[in-house]
Amino acid sequence: MKTPIRVYVVDDDELIASMLSRVLREEGYDVRTASTPTDLVVKIKAWCPAVVLLDIRLPQRSGIDILKEIAKQGLPSQVVMLTADDTAETAVKAMKLGAADYLTKPFSVDEVKIVVNKIVEKELLQQEVDYLRRVHSEVFDRELVGASAAVQELKAKIGRLADASVSTVLITGESGTGKELFARYVHRMLHEVSRDGYAPFVKVNCAALPETLIESELFGYEKGSFTDAKADKKGLFEMAQGGSILLDEIGDMKMTLQGKLLRVLEERTVRPVGGSEEVPIDVTVIATTNRNLSEAVEQGAFRMDLFFRLSTFYLHVPPLRERQEDIPALLEHFLSFFSTRYKRRTPTRVAPEAEKILLSYNWPGNIRELRNLLERLVVLEGAEEIVPGHLPAWLTGKAGVAAASGGGRITLPAQGLSLDDLEKDLILQALERTNHNKTHAAKLLQITYDTLRYQVKKLGLE
Ligand SMILES: Nc1ncnc2c1ncn2[C@@H]1O[C@H](COP(=O)(O)OP(=O)(O)OP(=O)(O)O)[C@@H](O)[C@H]1O
Ligand SMILES: [Mg+2]
Repeated sequence: MKTPIRVYVVDDDELIASMLSRVLREEGYDVRTASTPTDLVVKIKAWCPAVVLLDIRLPQRSGIDILKEIAKQGLPSQVVMLTADDTAETAVKAMKLGAADYLTKPFSVDEVKIVVNKIVEKELLQQEVDYLRRVHSEVFDRELVGASAAVQELKAKIGRLADASVSTVLITGESGTGKELFARYVHRMLHEVSRDGYAPFVKVNCAALPETLIESELFGYEKGSFTDAKADKKGLFEMAQGGSILLDEIGDMKMTLQGKLLRVLEERTVRPVGGSEEVPIDVTVIATTNRNLSEAVEQGAFRMDLFFRLSTFYLHVPPLRERQEDIPALLEHFLSFFSTRYKRRTPTRVAPEAEKILLSYNWPGNIRELRNLLERLVVLEGAEEIVPGHLPAWLTGKAGVAAASGGGRITLPAQGLSLDDLEKDLILQALERTNHNKTHAAKLLQITYDTLRYQVKKLGLE
Protein backbone atom coordinates (compact mmCIF):
# COMPACT_ATOMS: atom_id res chain seq x y z
CA MET A 1 0.00 0.00 0.00
CA LYS A 2 1.29 3.41 -0.92
CA THR A 3 1.07 6.09 1.76
CA PRO A 4 -0.72 9.22 0.58
CA ILE A 5 1.41 12.29 -0.04
CA ARG A 6 1.24 14.84 2.74
CA VAL A 7 0.25 18.44 2.34
CA TYR A 8 0.27 20.96 5.15
CA VAL A 9 -2.07 23.95 4.89
CA VAL A 10 -1.17 26.95 7.01
CA ASP A 11 -3.60 29.84 6.96
CA ASP A 12 -5.32 31.75 9.74
CA ASP A 13 -8.35 32.27 7.53
CA GLU A 14 -10.46 29.25 8.36
CA LEU A 15 -12.55 29.46 5.21
CA ILE A 16 -9.51 29.30 3.01
CA ALA A 17 -7.90 26.57 5.09
CA SER A 18 -10.96 24.36 4.96
CA MET A 19 -11.50 24.99 1.25
CA LEU A 20 -7.89 24.03 0.54
CA SER A 21 -7.99 20.95 2.67
CA ARG A 22 -11.24 19.75 1.08
CA VAL A 23 -9.92 20.23 -2.44
CA LEU A 24 -6.62 18.53 -1.67
CA ARG A 25 -8.22 15.63 0.14
CA GLU A 26 -10.38 15.05 -2.90
CA GLU A 27 -7.17 14.85 -4.87
CA GLY A 28 -6.05 12.05 -2.56
CA TYR A 29 -3.61 13.97 -0.38
CA ASP A 30 -3.15 13.50 3.32
CA VAL A 31 -3.89 17.02 4.59
CA ARG A 32 -3.32 18.74 7.90
CA THR A 33 -4.04 22.35 8.68
CA ALA A 34 -2.61 24.91 11.08
CA SER A 35 -3.81 28.41 11.77
CA THR A 36 -0.88 29.83 13.73
CA PRO A 37 2.86 29.81 13.23
CA THR A 38 3.43 28.44 16.74
CA ASP A 39 5.82 25.47 16.61
CA LEU A 40 5.17 25.28 12.90
CA VAL A 41 8.69 24.41 11.83
CA VAL A 42 8.87 21.73 14.52
CA LYS A 43 5.63 20.26 13.26
CA ILE A 44 6.80 20.36 9.66
CA LYS A 45 9.98 18.63 10.69
CA ALA A 46 8.07 15.98 12.57
CA TRP A 47 5.42 15.28 9.96
CA CYS A 48 7.58 15.91 6.93
CA PRO A 49 4.94 16.98 4.40
CA ALA A 50 5.86 17.02 0.71
CA VAL A 51 4.18 20.39 0.21
CA VAL A 52 3.42 23.23 2.59
CA LEU A 53 0.85 25.84 1.56
CA LEU A 54 1.91 28.82 3.61
CA ASP A 55 0.05 32.07 4.06
CA ILE A 56 2.33 35.09 3.85
CA ARG A 57 0.39 36.99 6.45
CA LEU A 58 0.07 35.06 9.65
CA PRO A 59 -0.51 36.35 13.15
CA GLN A 60 2.73 36.80 15.16
CA ARG A 61 5.14 35.77 12.47
CA SER A 62 5.34 36.31 8.74
CA GLY A 63 5.21 33.42 6.33
CA ILE A 64 8.44 34.70 4.80
CA ASP A 65 10.17 34.22 8.13
CA ILE A 66 8.97 30.66 8.31
CA LEU A 67 10.01 30.02 4.73
CA LYS A 68 13.50 31.25 5.59
CA GLU A 69 13.68 28.89 8.51
CA ILE A 70 12.52 25.93 6.46
CA ALA A 71 15.21 26.72 3.92
CA LYS A 72 17.85 27.26 6.59
CA GLN A 73 17.14 23.93 8.20
CA GLY A 74 17.24 22.23 4.82
CA LEU A 75 13.84 20.61 5.24
CA PRO A 76 12.77 18.73 2.11
CA SER A 77 9.23 20.15 2.06
CA GLN A 78 8.29 22.30 -0.94
CA VAL A 79 6.64 25.57 0.00
CA VAL A 80 3.85 27.32 -1.90
CA MET A 81 3.20 30.84 -0.63
CA LEU A 82 -0.37 32.11 -0.41
CA THR A 83 -0.56 35.84 -0.97
CA ALA A 84 -3.18 38.52 -1.28
CA ASP A 85 -2.83 40.28 -4.65
CA ASP A 86 -1.37 43.41 -3.08
CA THR A 87 1.66 41.45 -1.95
CA ALA A 88 2.64 40.16 -5.37
CA GLU A 89 6.08 41.65 -4.88
CA THR A 90 6.51 39.64 -1.72
CA ALA A 91 5.65 36.55 -3.73
CA VAL A 92 8.57 37.21 -6.02
CA LYS A 93 10.80 37.62 -2.99
CA ALA A 94 9.47 34.34 -1.65
CA MET A 95 10.40 32.56 -4.87
CA LYS A 96 13.90 33.92 -4.52
CA LEU A 97 14.04 32.56 -1.00
CA GLY A 98 13.26 29.11 -2.24
CA ALA A 99 9.48 28.85 -2.41
CA ALA A 100 8.42 26.41 -5.11
CA ASP A 101 5.48 28.49 -6.29
CA TYR A 102 2.79 30.87 -5.12
CA LEU A 103 -0.96 31.29 -5.31
CA THR A 104 -2.59 34.70 -5.33
CA LYS A 105 -5.85 35.10 -3.44
CA PRO A 106 -8.57 34.66 -4.47
CA PHE A 107 -7.59 31.48 -6.25
CA SER A 108 -9.76 28.88 -7.92
CA VAL A 109 -9.98 25.22 -7.04
CA ASP A 110 -8.35 24.34 -10.35
CA GLU A 111 -5.39 26.61 -9.73
CA VAL A 112 -4.74 24.94 -6.40
CA LYS A 113 -4.88 21.49 -7.93
CA ILE A 114 -2.61 22.42 -10.80
CA VAL A 115 0.04 24.03 -8.60
CA VAL A 116 0.17 21.27 -6.01
CA ASN A 117 -0.05 18.39 -8.49
CA LYS A 118 2.69 19.93 -10.57
CA ILE A 119 5.05 20.16 -7.62
CA VAL A 120 4.26 16.69 -6.45
CA GLU A 121 4.79 15.21 -9.89
CA LYS A 122 8.00 17.07 -10.40
CA GLU A 123 9.44 16.53 -6.97
CA LEU A 124 8.12 13.21 -5.93
CA LEU A 125 7.53 11.02 -8.91
CA GLN A 126 11.07 11.69 -10.01
CA GLN A 127 12.72 10.93 -6.75
CA GLU A 128 10.17 8.66 -5.10
CA VAL A 129 8.55 9.55 -1.82
CA ASP A 130 10.76 7.11 -0.03
CA TYR A 131 13.92 8.87 -1.02
CA LEU A 132 12.61 12.17 0.19
CA ARG A 133 11.80 10.67 3.53
CA ARG A 134 15.08 8.90 3.75
CA VAL A 135 17.24 11.96 3.35
CA HIS A 136 15.40 13.40 6.24
CA SER A 137 17.13 11.57 9.01
CA GLU A 138 14.92 12.55 11.88
CA VAL A 139 11.87 10.96 10.36
CA PHE A 140 13.90 8.07 9.07
CA ASP A 141 15.46 7.47 12.44
CA ARG A 142 12.07 6.83 13.95
CA GLU A 143 11.42 3.94 11.64
CA LEU A 144 11.20 0.72 13.56
CA VAL A 145 12.68 -1.94 11.34
CA GLY A 146 12.06 -5.60 11.96
CA ALA A 147 9.58 -8.29 11.05
CA SER A 148 10.68 -10.91 13.55
CA ALA A 149 7.94 -12.50 15.63
CA ALA A 150 9.29 -10.62 18.66
CA VAL A 151 9.06 -7.20 17.03
CA GLN A 152 5.64 -7.91 15.55
CA GLU A 153 4.36 -9.03 18.90
CA LEU A 154 5.65 -5.87 20.55
CA LYS A 155 4.04 -3.72 17.89
CA ALA A 156 0.74 -5.54 18.26
CA LYS A 157 0.87 -5.12 22.01
CA ILE A 158 1.50 -1.40 21.61
CA GLY A 159 -1.37 -1.20 19.13
CA ARG A 160 -3.69 -2.53 21.81
CA LEU A 161 -2.43 0.10 24.26
CA ALA A 162 -4.24 2.83 22.43
CA ASP A 163 -7.64 1.34 23.29
CA ALA A 164 -6.77 0.55 26.88
CA SER A 165 -6.08 4.16 27.95
CA VAL A 166 -2.83 3.15 29.58
CA SER A 167 -0.97 5.91 31.41
CA THR A 168 2.33 4.23 32.32
CA VAL A 169 4.53 1.92 30.30
CA LEU A 170 7.77 0.24 31.30
CA ILE A 171 10.22 -0.79 28.58
CA THR A 172 13.16 -2.99 29.47
CA GLY A 173 15.95 -4.48 27.41
CA GLU A 174 19.71 -4.49 27.01
CA SER A 175 21.54 -1.38 25.90
CA GLY A 176 21.10 -0.61 22.21
CA THR A 177 18.08 -2.84 21.64
CA GLY A 178 15.84 0.06 20.63
CA LYS A 179 14.00 0.92 23.84
CA GLU A 180 13.88 4.59 23.00
CA LEU A 181 12.64 3.83 19.51
CA PHE A 182 9.87 1.69 20.97
CA ALA A 183 9.07 4.47 23.43
CA ARG A 184 8.61 6.85 20.52
CA TYR A 185 6.47 4.28 18.78
CA VAL A 186 4.26 4.01 21.87
CA HIS A 187 3.97 7.78 21.87
CA ARG A 188 3.01 7.89 18.21
CA MET A 189 0.37 5.21 18.57
CA LEU A 190 -1.12 6.76 21.68
CA HIS A 191 -0.99 10.41 20.86
CA GLU A 192 -0.35 11.04 17.23
CA VAL A 193 -1.76 8.30 15.04
CA SER A 194 -4.92 7.82 17.07
CA ARG A 195 -5.56 11.53 17.41
CA ASP A 196 -4.18 12.47 14.02
CA GLY A 197 -2.08 15.28 15.37
CA TYR A 198 1.08 16.45 16.98
CA ALA A 199 1.73 15.87 20.67
CA PRO A 200 4.79 16.72 22.76
CA PHE A 201 7.37 14.06 23.55
CA VAL A 202 9.76 15.00 26.32
CA LYS A 203 12.81 12.92 27.14
CA VAL A 204 14.51 13.01 30.52
CA ASN A 205 17.70 11.18 31.29
CA CYS A 206 17.31 10.23 34.93
CA ALA A 207 20.96 9.27 35.26
CA ALA A 208 22.40 12.46 33.79
CA LEU A 209 20.48 15.10 35.69
CA PRO A 210 22.16 16.18 38.92
CA GLU A 211 20.08 15.35 41.95
CA THR A 212 19.84 18.97 43.03
CA LEU A 213 18.26 19.93 39.73
CA ILE A 214 16.09 17.02 38.88
CA GLU A 215 13.14 17.90 41.03
CA SER A 216 12.78 21.43 39.74
CA GLU A 217 13.40 20.20 36.19
CA LEU A 218 10.68 17.58 36.44
CA PHE A 219 8.10 19.44 38.43
CA GLY A 220 8.98 23.08 37.78
CA TYR A 221 9.26 25.77 40.38
CA GLU A 222 7.54 28.90 41.52
CA LYS A 223 9.05 32.32 41.59
CA GLY A 224 11.06 32.93 44.76
CA SER A 225 11.34 29.27 45.77
CA PHE A 226 15.13 29.68 45.64
CA THR A 227 17.54 32.51 44.86
CA ASP A 228 17.70 32.03 41.12
CA ALA A 229 13.99 31.41 40.71
CA LYS A 230 13.19 34.81 39.26
CA ALA A 231 10.02 33.63 37.59
CA ASP A 232 7.80 30.56 37.49
CA LYS A 233 9.19 27.75 35.45
CA LYS A 234 7.23 24.89 34.01
CA GLY A 235 8.55 21.44 34.73
CA LEU A 236 9.09 18.73 32.12
CA PHE A 237 5.92 16.93 33.19
CA GLU A 238 3.89 19.99 32.39
CA MET A 239 5.71 20.49 29.12
CA ALA A 240 4.67 16.98 28.13
CA GLN A 241 0.99 17.82 28.79
CA GLY A 242 -1.21 15.95 26.31
CA GLY A 243 1.72 13.81 25.20
CA SER A 244 4.40 11.61 26.72
CA ILE A 245 7.39 11.92 28.99
CA LEU A 246 10.21 9.41 28.59
CA LEU A 247 12.04 8.69 31.83
CA ASP A 248 15.20 7.18 30.43
CA GLU A 249 17.34 4.96 32.65
CA ILE A 250 14.78 4.96 35.42
CA GLY A 251 16.80 2.26 37.16
CA ASP A 252 19.35 4.93 38.07
CA MET A 253 16.87 7.25 39.69
CA LYS A 254 17.67 8.15 43.30
CA MET A 255 15.48 6.67 46.03
CA THR A 256 14.17 10.02 47.28
CA LEU A 257 12.98 10.95 43.84
CA GLN A 258 11.44 7.54 43.30
CA GLY A 259 9.01 8.27 46.12
CA LYS A 260 8.05 11.58 44.55
CA LEU A 261 7.58 9.99 41.16
CA LEU A 262 5.32 7.33 42.64
CA ARG A 263 3.15 10.04 44.11
CA VAL A 264 2.90 11.74 40.71
CA LEU A 265 1.89 8.48 39.04
CA GLU A 266 -0.76 7.83 41.64
CA GLU A 267 -2.23 11.30 41.99
CA ARG A 268 -1.60 12.34 38.39
CA THR A 269 -0.70 15.81 39.58
CA VAL A 270 2.60 17.60 40.13
CA ARG A 271 3.47 20.23 42.65
CA PRO A 272 6.12 22.72 41.53
CA VAL A 273 9.00 23.31 43.95
CA GLY A 274 7.97 26.08 46.34
CA GLY A 275 4.39 25.91 45.17
CA SER A 276 1.29 25.05 47.10
CA GLU A 277 -1.06 24.16 44.24
CA GLU A 278 -1.22 20.76 42.59
CA VAL A 279 -1.19 20.90 38.81
CA PRO A 280 -3.12 18.08 37.13
CA ILE A 281 -1.19 16.32 34.40
CA ASP A 282 -2.41 14.34 31.43
CA VAL A 283 0.79 12.65 30.37
CA THR A 284 1.76 9.12 29.39
CA VAL A 285 4.81 8.15 31.43
CA ILE A 286 7.16 5.84 29.58
CA ALA A 287 10.05 4.53 31.64
CA THR A 288 12.98 2.64 30.15
CA THR A 289 15.86 0.81 31.73
CA ASN A 290 18.54 -1.70 30.86
CA ARG A 291 18.82 -2.77 34.48
CA ASN A 292 16.92 -5.70 35.89
CA LEU A 293 14.48 -3.81 38.08
CA SER A 294 13.24 -6.76 40.08
CA GLU A 295 16.84 -7.49 41.01
CA ALA A 296 17.31 -3.85 41.93
CA VAL A 297 14.25 -4.14 44.13
CA GLU A 298 15.73 -7.17 45.87
CA GLN A 299 18.96 -5.29 46.44
CA GLY A 300 17.06 -2.40 47.93
CA ALA A 301 18.07 0.03 45.17
CA PHE A 302 14.61 0.41 43.72
CA ARG A 303 11.28 0.88 45.48
CA MET A 304 9.04 -2.13 45.18
CA ASP A 305 5.84 -0.07 45.11
CA LEU A 306 7.17 2.04 42.24
CA PHE A 307 8.26 -1.09 40.41
CA PHE A 308 4.74 -2.53 40.66
CA ARG A 309 3.18 0.76 39.65
CA LEU A 310 5.41 1.00 36.57
CA SER A 311 5.17 -2.58 35.46
CA THR A 312 1.41 -2.82 34.96
CA PHE A 313 2.11 -2.40 31.29
CA TYR A 314 5.42 -3.88 30.47
CA LEU A 315 7.35 -4.37 27.25
CA HIS A 316 10.59 -6.28 26.95
CA VAL A 317 12.74 -5.66 23.88
CA PRO A 318 14.78 -8.81 23.23
CA PRO A 319 18.48 -8.57 22.36
CA LEU A 320 19.43 -8.72 18.70
CA ARG A 321 21.05 -12.15 19.05
CA GLU A 322 17.60 -13.54 19.88
CA ARG A 323 16.04 -12.13 16.73
CA GLN A 324 18.68 -12.58 14.09
CA GLU A 325 16.02 -12.71 11.41
CA ASP A 326 15.81 -8.91 11.77
CA ILE A 327 19.44 -8.47 10.71
CA PRO A 328 18.96 -8.53 6.90
CA ALA A 329 16.26 -5.84 7.04
CA LEU A 330 18.38 -3.75 9.42
CA LEU A 331 21.37 -4.08 7.09
CA GLU A 332 19.37 -2.83 4.16
CA HIS A 333 17.86 -0.02 6.21
CA PHE A 334 21.12 1.34 7.65
CA LEU A 335 23.10 0.89 4.44
CA SER A 336 20.59 2.80 2.41
CA PHE A 337 20.44 5.50 5.07
CA PHE A 338 24.19 5.99 5.40
CA SER A 339 24.76 5.67 1.66
CA THR A 340 22.37 8.57 1.19
CA ARG A 341 23.77 10.57 4.06
CA TYR A 342 27.34 10.18 2.85
CA LYS A 343 26.34 10.69 -0.77
CA ARG A 344 27.47 7.35 -2.15
CA ARG A 345 26.62 7.06 -5.81
CA THR A 346 25.18 3.60 -5.35
CA PRO A 347 24.02 2.19 -2.05
CA THR A 348 26.60 0.02 -0.33
CA ARG A 349 25.75 -3.69 -0.41
CA VAL A 350 26.85 -6.62 1.73
CA ALA A 351 28.34 -9.66 0.04
CA PRO A 352 26.68 -12.95 1.05
CA GLU A 353 29.83 -14.22 2.84
CA ALA A 354 30.00 -11.01 4.87
CA GLU A 355 26.31 -11.22 5.67
CA LYS A 356 26.83 -14.71 7.00
CA ILE A 357 29.42 -13.38 9.44
CA LEU A 358 27.14 -10.54 10.51
CA LEU A 359 24.32 -13.01 11.09
CA SER A 360 26.34 -15.28 13.30
CA TYR A 361 27.92 -12.59 15.48
CA ASN A 362 26.28 -12.18 18.89
CA TRP A 363 26.00 -8.35 18.93
CA PRO A 364 26.55 -7.55 22.60
CA GLY A 365 25.91 -3.88 21.81
CA ASN A 366 22.76 -4.86 19.88
CA ILE A 367 21.33 -2.66 17.13
CA ARG A 368 23.41 0.34 18.14
CA GLU A 369 26.57 -1.69 17.58
CA LEU A 370 25.32 -2.86 14.18
CA ARG A 371 24.37 0.65 13.18
CA ASN A 372 27.69 2.15 14.26
CA LEU A 373 29.63 -0.55 12.46
CA LEU A 374 27.71 0.00 9.21
CA GLU A 375 28.18 3.74 9.41
CA ARG A 376 31.89 3.23 9.82
CA LEU A 377 32.04 0.81 6.91
CA VAL A 378 30.18 3.17 4.60
CA VAL A 379 32.34 6.13 5.61
CA LEU A 380 35.75 4.52 5.82
CA GLU A 381 35.71 1.71 3.30
CA GLY A 382 33.77 3.49 0.61
CA ALA A 383 33.50 0.15 -1.17
CA GLU A 384 30.38 -0.67 -3.15
CA GLU A 385 30.22 -4.06 -1.58
CA ILE A 386 31.21 -5.03 1.94
CA VAL A 387 33.22 -8.25 1.92
CA PRO A 388 34.55 -10.20 4.92
CA GLY A 389 37.90 -8.40 4.60
CA HIS A 390 36.23 -5.12 5.49
CA LEU A 391 34.85 -6.45 8.73
CA PRO A 392 36.71 -5.90 11.99
CA ALA A 393 38.69 -8.86 13.25
CA TRP A 394 36.53 -9.51 16.29
CA LEU A 395 33.64 -10.33 13.99
CA THR A 396 35.56 -12.73 11.81
CA GLY A 397 37.24 -14.18 14.90
CA LYS A 398 40.69 -13.73 13.34
CA ALA A 399 42.20 -12.12 16.38
CA GLY A 400 41.10 -15.02 18.54
CA VAL A 401 39.49 -12.63 20.99
CA ALA A 402 36.12 -14.31 21.11
CA ALA A 403 37.49 -17.05 23.34
CA ALA A 404 38.25 -14.61 26.13
CA SER A 405 34.74 -14.33 27.52
CA GLY A 406 33.87 -15.51 31.00
CA GLY A 407 37.35 -15.02 32.40
CA GLY A 408 38.77 -17.66 30.05
CA ARG A 409 42.23 -17.44 28.64
CA ILE A 410 43.02 -16.08 25.19
CA THR A 411 44.90 -18.68 23.25
CA LEU A 412 47.68 -17.38 21.13
CA PRO A 413 47.05 -18.78 17.65
CA ALA A 414 49.81 -21.04 16.27
CA GLN A 415 50.69 -18.47 13.63
CA GLY A 416 50.89 -15.74 16.29
CA LEU A 417 49.02 -12.45 16.23
CA SER A 418 49.72 -8.76 16.20
CA LEU A 419 49.40 -7.35 19.69
CA ASP A 420 48.85 -3.90 18.23
CA ASP A 421 45.96 -5.12 16.09
CA LEU A 422 44.47 -6.91 19.03
CA GLU A 423 44.62 -3.78 21.14
CA LYS A 424 43.13 -1.72 18.37
CA ASP A 425 40.32 -4.22 17.93
CA LEU A 426 39.46 -4.28 21.59
CA ILE A 427 39.44 -0.52 21.87
CA LEU A 428 37.24 -0.20 18.80
CA GLN A 429 34.88 -2.79 20.19
CA ALA A 430 34.62 -0.94 23.45
CA LEU A 431 33.97 2.36 21.67
CA GLU A 432 31.41 0.86 19.37
CA ARG A 433 29.59 -0.88 22.16
CA THR A 434 29.35 2.28 24.25
CA ASN A 435 28.31 4.53 21.43
CA HIS A 436 31.72 6.21 21.52
CA ASN A 437 31.36 7.23 25.11
CA LYS A 438 35.02 7.21 26.19
CA THR A 439 34.22 7.18 29.89
CA HIS A 440 32.16 4.01 29.54
CA ALA A 441 34.59 2.46 27.07
CA ALA A 442 37.49 3.04 29.48
CA LYS A 443 35.49 1.34 32.21
CA LEU A 444 34.88 -1.70 30.01
CA LEU A 445 38.60 -1.94 29.31
CA GLN A 446 39.48 -1.28 32.93
CA ILE A 447 41.81 1.56 32.08
CA THR A 448 41.60 5.26 32.93
CA TYR A 449 39.93 7.75 30.69
CA ASP A 450 43.28 9.42 30.00
CA THR A 451 44.92 6.15 29.03
CA LEU A 452 42.11 5.44 26.61
CA ARG A 453 42.38 8.89 25.09
CA TYR A 454 46.09 8.43 24.66
CA GLN A 455 45.64 5.02 23.03
CA VAL A 456 42.94 6.28 20.69
CA LYS A 457 45.27 9.00 19.51
CA LYS A 458 48.27 6.73 19.27
CA LEU A 459 46.48 4.11 17.25
CA GLY A 460 44.84 6.71 15.03
CA LEU A 461 41.32 5.70 15.95
CA GLU A 462 39.91 9.18 16.27
N1 LIG B 1 14.24 -1.84 15.16
C1 LIG B 1 15.06 -0.84 14.85
N2 LIG B 1 15.05 -0.35 13.60
C2 LIG B 1 15.87 0.67 13.25
N3 LIG B 1 16.76 1.23 14.08
C3 LIG B 1 16.83 0.77 15.33
C4 LIG B 1 15.98 -0.29 15.79
N4 LIG B 1 16.25 -0.52 17.08
C5 LIG B 1 17.24 0.32 17.42
N5 LIG B 1 17.59 1.11 16.39
C6 LIG B 1 18.64 2.15 16.39
O1 LIG B 1 19.66 1.70 17.25
C7 LIG B 1 20.14 2.76 18.08
C8 LIG B 1 19.92 2.41 19.54
O2 LIG B 1 18.54 2.40 19.84
P1 LIG B 1 17.95 3.05 21.17
O3 LIG B 1 18.63 4.32 21.50
O4 LIG B 1 16.48 3.08 21.05
O5 LIG B 1 18.40 1.92 22.21
P2 LIG B 1 18.19 1.82 23.78
O6 LIG B 1 17.61 0.48 24.02
O7 LIG B 1 17.42 3.00 24.26
O8 LIG B 1 19.68 1.82 24.32
P3 LIG B 1 20.27 2.36 25.75
O9 LIG B 1 19.76 1.41 26.79
O10 LIG B 1 21.74 2.28 25.57
O11 LIG B 1 19.75 3.75 25.93
C9 LIG B 1 19.39 4.00 17.64
O12 LIG B 1 20.18 4.68 16.69
C10 LIG B 1 18.13 3.45 17.00
O13 LIG B 1 17.63 4.34 16.04
MG1 LIG C 1 18.00 4.63 25.46
